[in-house]
Amino acid sequence: HTIPPTVFVIFGGTGDLNARKLSPALYNLFLDGWLPEQFAIIGTGRTKLTDEEFRKNLLADLNQFSRSGKAKKEAWDKFGPHIQYQASDVKVPAAYEELSQRIAALEKEWGAPANIIYYLAVAPEFFPVIATGIAESHPDTDPNRVRIVIEKPFGHDLESARALNQLLAKHYEEKQIYRIDHYLGKETVQNIMAFRFANAIMEPLWNRNNIEHVQISVTEQLGVGERTGYYDGSGALRDMIQNHLLQLLCLVAMEPPVNFTADEVRNRKVDVLRAMRRFTPETVREAAVRGQYGAGWIEGQQVPGYREEPGANPTSSTETFAAVKFFVDNWRWQGVPFYLRTGKRLHRSASIITIQFKDVPHVIFPAETAEGWRKNRLIISIQPEMSIRLQVQAKRPGLDMMLNTVDMVFDYDGTYTTEAPEAYETLLLDTMLGDQTLFMRGDQVEEAWDLVMPILNSWQSRPSMSFPNYSADSWGPEVAEALIARDGYHWFTLP
Ligand code: BG6
Repeated sequence: HTIPPTVFVIFGGTGDLNARKLSPALYNLFLDGWLPEQFAIIGTGRTKLTDEEFRKNLLADLNQFSRSGKAKKEAWDKFGPHIQYQASDVKVPAAYEELSQRIAALEKEWGAPANIIYYLAVAPEFFPVIATGIAESHPDTDPNRVRIVIEKPFGHDLESARALNQLLAKHYEEKQIYRIDHYLGKETVQNIMAFRFANAIMEPLWNRNNIEHVQISVTEQLGVGERTGYYDGSGALRDMIQNHLLQLLCLVAMEPPVNFTADEVRNRKVDVLRAMRRFTPETVREAAVRGQYGAGWIEGQQVPGYREEPGANPTSSTETFAAVKFFVDNWRWQGVPFYLRTGKRLHRSASIITIQFKDVPHVIFPAETAEGWRKNRLIISIQPEMSIRLQVQAKRPGLDMMLNTVDMVFDYDGTYTTEAPEAYETLLLDTMLGDQTLFMRGDQVEEAWDLVMPILNSWQSRPSMSFPNYSADSWGPEVAEALIARDGYHWFTLP
């Protein structure tokens, strides 16, 4: 790929996302030779800093957060000079004029027009003012050269997501808008499409005739910690299910796209969201449960409950755990439940998708030989273990016919020696290449909000009386076990 001269403008340059994810990702892309000769990174923020000070901070961040370890002097000496800093108040037009001047100076130096990627790594209340500020300061820029990257959360509900889409559409074409869902950049998540659509043996099985149910479970050991300011107005449903988990569901449930192009793939994903059964206030009560963590011990450390986290509201009804049973009403999936759960301060961090197949139609083995019998399961483990396991029955070695369940495993560690890139490396490279396949289109975001709104509304109208209802280091509240146990299943975890 040839990438034209590129300027990254990072709003929120002094923020956490840039420190932990964006700058390390750009640095690793640089190390791997993906950045063009002519590139610049302009960080902006309210703090007054010189270029030198900003570079020094980023170097410290790289040393802490880059997957390639501490920056080597030689590489940093080449990378560092590409970085600039501009202190600015995004609410005043002068900020955008100054940026334009910097960009014009770079283009002059390079003797070529640059692609400009504006990355909004800021709190969502600043999205409208920045998106408008950029557009109004360059009314005549070529839409092929300017891209705008919007971090999550994209809206707080359906109405605000629509309003943001409308505002963006006033100033930008859809092909310029890159809405981030960082799960889509994860190596194992991208592999779901490869696994389903580059193998002939999956598709004939991949439907209601053979699949009994699907589970998507993203459990986290971390608590909310310092993020209560954001999290208390959000909760697990908004923070994780509306975006990351529903995107995983789309990848599992989508029809085969005709080709691997951005709009084709995203059309098939939107089809899934449109087919998903909508909730009524009555069905919400049966299909959706929530929880909030109390205090407990994790790995020998005492940890506070959510309501005792710094800055938390001591009577907060915000859920830190959510589990929902969804249906996809189409021919492929009619009657197959999709159970999604996510939560913080749980026993272990693990993101896994489990596809449970139906039992054999008739068991020929006597019951005592098949003690360890389980239905076939396909387990796609996204993180931290990166693997795909197929659980099958096998004869245990010995003179008698005894069956047990064994795993056929493809795991990244044992198969590949190259390290998987970070999600943000993939996503930043794609913004440079102009490839939107792994980004959220406006209609996808709105469909996902539309789907979860009845749950949000119902929960908001009935603050929970039982919070906290799970303790740190557990697998979540009992209601979540009950939700799936009612149908005769249990939540699956890797050993
Ligand atoms: C973010 C959420 O989008 O995803 C966080 O806001 C969550 O609350 C995080 O912890 C999980 O991402 P990852 O990549 O660590 O699984």
